[in-house]
Amino acid sequence: MTHETDPALIPLPVRTECRADAPGYVALDERTTLDAGPGTHGTARWLRTALGAATGLPLADGTGPHAIRLRIAADVERELGPEGYRLSTDGSVAEAAVVIEGGSAAGVFWGAQTLRQLLGPEAHRRARVVPAGHDWDLPMVTITDAPRFRWRGLMLDVARHFMPKDDVLRQLDLMAAHKLNVLHLHLTDDQGWRIEIRRHPRLTEVGSWRARSKWGHRASPLWHETPHGGHYTQDDIREIVAYAADRHISVVPEIDVPGHSQAAIAAYPELGNTDVIDTTALSVWDTWGVSPNVLAPTDTVLRFYEGVLEEVLDLFPAEVSPFVHIGGDECPKDQWKASPTAQARIRELGVGDEDGLQAWFVRHFARWLADRGRRLVGWDEILEGGPGPGDGGGVGGGATGTGGAGAAARVLPEGAVVSSWRGYAGGITAAEAGHDVVMCPEQHVYLDHRQAPGEDEPMPIGYVRTLADVYRFEPVPPGLAPEAAAHVLGTQANVWTEVMENRDRVDYQTHPRLAAFAEVAWSRLPAPDHRDLAGFERRMTAHYPRLDALGVAYRPPAGPRPWQRRPGVLGRPLEGPPPNV
Ligand code: ACM
Repeated sequence: MTHETDPALIPLPVRTECRADAPGYVALDERTTLDAGPGTHGTARWLRTALGAATGLPLADGTGPHAIRLRIAADVERELGPEGYRLSTDGSVAEAAVVIEGGSAAGVFWGAQTLRQLLGPEAHRRARVVPAGHDWDLPMVTITDAPRFRWRGLMLDVARHFMPKDDVLRQLDLMAAHKLNVLHLHLTDDQGWRIEIRRHPRLTEVGSWRARSKWGHRASPLWHETPHGGHYTQDDIREIVAYAADRHISVVPEIDVPGHSQAAIAAYPELGNTDVIDTTALSVWDTWGVSPNVLAPTDTVLRFYEGVLEEVLDLFPAEVSPFVHIGGDECPKDQWKASPTAQARIRELGVGDEDGLQAWFVRHFARWLADRGRRLVGWDEILEGGPGPGDGGGVGGGATGTGGAGAAARVLPEGAVVSSWRGYAGGITAAEAGHDVVMCPEQHVYLDHRQAPGEDEPMPIGYVRTLADVYRFEPVPPGLAPEAAAHVLGTQANVWTEVMENRDRVDYQTHPRLAAFAEVAWSRLPAPDHRDLAGFERRMTAHYPRLDALGVAYRPPAGPRPWQRRPGVLGRPLEGPPPNV
């Protein structure tokens, strides 16, 4: 289609066809009705709420030539899968103004997102900005579309800086607008515990706030002396999960063990290595980095976290998401090395060393979750430590202390999923061993990393990852055998919030790169070197006004606005291209 008539959709659909014999427009107006077939009432409700508010149109129930017809269609499911859809505004499919047929309710919903983009940026506002009587013109097109990956994720770190519930709901709307479908909520860390657990109230009474915060990278001399805190009540979580489900997004909770646990230990000192340090003196951590204060490998800790997870499973039902993330990353072993209790446990279990102890810890929860019909997800460190006794194989790091990721991958309980963050390597190992993988390498899709080289980038962290760099990210590493590649469930962009103190900072780091990421996750793009970057950038000129209408404080292409800068606050930029891992 020509540039002028290009509806500039993001993410790019599989196919957009204009009907040559029927140029022109279809208008939505006062006569437009919603004709919602079985299973599509959720999308009808969304259209009435979102488009109804932006257009002022009543969108009453009704059939006929002015209808937006929503259907779940078996042939679409066969051809395009459950999340696929066909959207037609050119009258070629049926007697209706607009027809959206999805492979499932989710497909219909993604089609509705495309419909909103076709209506223009004003359709993304929460109330009317155009006079009554405005024609909401749609180009006459047939769009055929389906996602490349089933896991199109965004991880929000609500632990380092708490994100109020309303802002999480807003993020879900922004995800839906980009056809992303997994929100990974990083709920616990050294710097805060963000989810109410009824049987352990001190987790939030004590663990959900800190007296002050490091301002900038941890090497910065500056402090924010205002206390920081907040948590989600169980009803907040239920609301978030339901709001997400209404948008065909599943929420994956992360409760990080055995590292990144200082907030929990501050609340319940018995969870820490009490034979090494005085854990009663710990408070919620006020600076960034990897805390040495990790959980003790005791039965007390296992029972405590089983109790936590029982409540978590209740809040995140299996129908919504079978996946539960237990972290497993960056667990320093110094305290276990010094702890007679931990050393006795290593001997008693016959796991060889501290890496083996960590693997045992992860396996315990993998089995515990599997017994309850759930699938454990962990950062790629869960591949380390080797198989335990009785796990088969008899090779690997358990005995030698070398890590033994390959052997460990074979004994990760079936169904466990790896979030590959330190590069592709962990994901490749896991996929080749038959485990599902979510590719989220920090070198490519950590959105806390700076997005331009200039001095003006606020608190610049990591390598430069521009919009174009993210657009060229490929989730499936070249050379991966097809049967291993089939284990790549998808990909995820991770937003760590040490230097993002509020919603605008999160917006700045996340957008516009999330648009490029969404296209990588949804669209069937060619290999990185063959991607149409110019075409994407042209479509982005139509996408910025959508983001403006949605109220997103993105990074403008020309660089940060004055109030988006953080002059004098230290970051930690890394130079050069990221290592090719
Ligand atoms: C991580 O970035 N530590 C998963």
